[in-house]
Amino acid sequence: MDSESGQKKIRIIRPEDFVEFSQRLRKEYHDQYYAMYSSVWDGIVTEPALMMVPVDDHMVHRGDAVFEAFKCVSGNLYNVHRHLERLRFSADQVAIELPFPTGEILEIVKETIRVAARKDCLVRLFVSRGPGGFTTDPYECPQSQLYVVITSLRYPPREKYEEGVRVKVSAVPAKPGFFANIKSCNYLPNVLMKKEAVDSGVDFTICLDESGSLGESTTENFGMVSKEGVLRFPRFDRILRGTTVVRASELARDLVDSGLLEDVVFCDISVEEARSAAEMMMFGTTFDMLPIVEFDGTIIGSGKPGKVFKELYRLLLEDVHNNRNFLEPVF
Ligand SMILES: Cc1ncc(COP(=O)(O)O)c(C=O)c1O
Repeated sequence: MDSESGQKKIRIIRPEDFVEFSQRLRKEYHDQYYAMYSSVWDGIVTEPALMMVPVDDHMVHRGDAVFEAFKCVSGNLYNVHRHLERLRFSADQVAIELPFPTGEILEIVKETIRVAARKDCLVRLFVSRGPGGFTTDPYECPQSQLYVVITSLRYPPREKYEEGVRVKVSAVPAKPGFFANIKSCNYLPNVLMKKEAVDSGVDFTICLDESGSLGESTTENFGMVSKEGVLRFPRFDRILRGTTVVRASELARDLVDSGLLEDVVFCDISVEEARSAAEMMMFGTTFDMLPIVEFDGTIIGSGKPGKVFKELYRLLLEDVHNNRNFLEPVF
């Protein structure tokens, strides 16, 4: 505050001050940020304070962008081709042209990971409408952009796998199918669901649609095993087609063959059906699978991770670490 005029004095930052200034912006959480590629610069930075997006990119002021998150485990990208397929689908749905062919995007991702020099990391990839003014008009933007951010890969604590997680039904309504199927940067309902979970002290909340069918969590899918031994997942009409749940549903066929499961189906699941489940579980890219032991105040099964969870998680981990068909080497 200027003592004579009483007005707040805000410093003017000149371009030549910027590098020194950006060092002072360093925060503790920046230690988890390893590298970022931006097609705006066609370059990679490793300084977290420089990991920025132009404010006139419509991704910033309208959420006009699509994204993906996938992981690199022991130097291999897991299931990356399905993530890139979903990226292409999302971009097509909102008529954003990918700035590069998916093969080139994959090469950019790999090079950014090599610069990050981390064999285990999380990749976040954004394709934006691009800079071009501040209205909602997508035709304002001459060129879509790609941003790739490499951060640490952090798993939930061991006890969440061993003792299970608690979930409840969300008060945030399910998105209409068209928007739910697109992995867009328009995630306000998802943010509110996460806030709801944190505020109420559970691990996840799951949304409901108008017909009373359960949908998905903030950035995770769920599934349940009925008392008859049928592994049931919500259909993908009102939720995102999760790469993890799809892969798990394929791997679960082995459990049908071995007699642990009767069948694997995609169907509507009501709150009452979930309450009577023998087992429930969450699916998502970063953590793979987590057992649900409490659903909306009801203890599920024995209140401990069940047999199907243990077997399916074992199959999924094997896939993540050793299935060459799903691994893309980076180094
Ligand atoms: C809304 C939503 N549902 C489900 C998922 C799970 O998808 P995946 O298994 O591909 O991570 C995600 C992933 O981030 C998501 O954003």
